[in-house]
Amino acid sequence: MSYARITGTGGYLPENVMTNDDIAKFVDTNDQWIRERTGIEQRHIVVDGQTTVDLAEGASRLAIEAAGIDSSDIDLIILATSTPDKIFPSSACILQARLGIHGCPAFDIQAVCSGFVYALTVAEKFIKSGSSKKALVVGAEVFSKILNWEDRATCVLFGDGAGAVILEASEETGILSTHIHADGQYEDLLRVPYGIADGYDQVKAGLAFVEMRGNEVFKVAVNTLGRIVDETLAANNMMKSDIDWLVPHQANIRIISATAKKLKMSMDQVVVTVNKHGNTSAASVPLALDVAVRDGRIKKNELLLLEAFGGGFTWGSVLVRF
Ligand code: COA
Repeated sequence: MSYARITGTGGYLPENVMTNDDIAKFVDTNDQWIRERTGIEQRHIVVDGQTTVDLAEGASRLAIEAAGIDSSDIDLIILATSTPDKIFPSSACILQARLGIHGCPAFDIQAVCSGFVYALTVAEKFIKSGSSKKALVVGAEVFSKILNWEDRATCVLFGDGAGAVILEASEETGILSTHIHADGQYEDLLRVPYGIADGYDQVKAGLAFVEMRGNEVFKVAVNTLGRIVDETLAANNMMKSDIDWLVPHQANIRIISATAKKLKMSMDQVVVTVNKHGNTSAASVPLALDVAVRDGRIKKNELLLLEAFGGGFTWGSVLVRF
């Protein structure tokens, strides 16, 4: 049987860093509140003209190099984003052109912060069915463009960035299982309230920003991520102690710690980037993965649990033998 194996990772962050003190200059907040409630110290924010595809291209080139393949070998591109460069063509198609790839399927997936877990799940199915041999799977976002920079309850939480992996067909074990879910009934808790349906006037008027009832989102996220951990372990007949690394969505250190506690894992086995990146939505899991692969923490054959929760609500996990 053929598996889908991650053979290369890449991450790309805009150079421009915004600290908590920088934000405190224009909204009523402070470094101590942000650190204590979220674990965030700083985030990277694009400069004018820098887009989701720019970041995706940077991450993709590094993943392609790490996998030791040529761009022309790629036969599937899936890009997860909620902040695409344009309404169409898809950001995946724009990325495909930038990478000089022609003909292979390329499409976006929109599942907000769970986007990369969704994209990896879909890519794995393409590989397992034999439709694809080498897939480029990307999560890339410029959430800074959909934030109300006057709303302290949301603007301190997010950052921009991109992460990518190459997923290849292999006889060696790779992805062991994927689990994705959604429940549309929670739209009121987390959303961007305007879009195409409103004739774009509100978008142009600058009203298309993230709205969140943070406290309620927090509670659902902690409970849901606890359940997805149980579901993943049960599906693989595994125990908590089998997992070497938790690579969680990076929204809030308190949510991450609660999931680690549920898994009885020490924080030394959890990849944390929320302090440096903030919540980069679909980019957060592949960025965290890339950081821990490149600094040598995650090693070949280790067992990784990737998990995410986001707007929709959407949530999911991927269990991977790296
Ligand atoms: N700086 C200072 N004070 C702030 C603040 C900020 N940036 N944002 C909110 N506050 C204030 C609130 O106004 C409130 O003040 P009050 O008690 O006088 O009314 C107080 O801090 C507590 O607010 P609350 O929203 O209850 O805080 P919290 O402990 O729930 O933390 C979040 C807020 C957003 C950090 C937290 O709810 C969270 O992380 N939620 C999940 C977010 C998430 O993961 N979203 C994405 C899912 S992918």
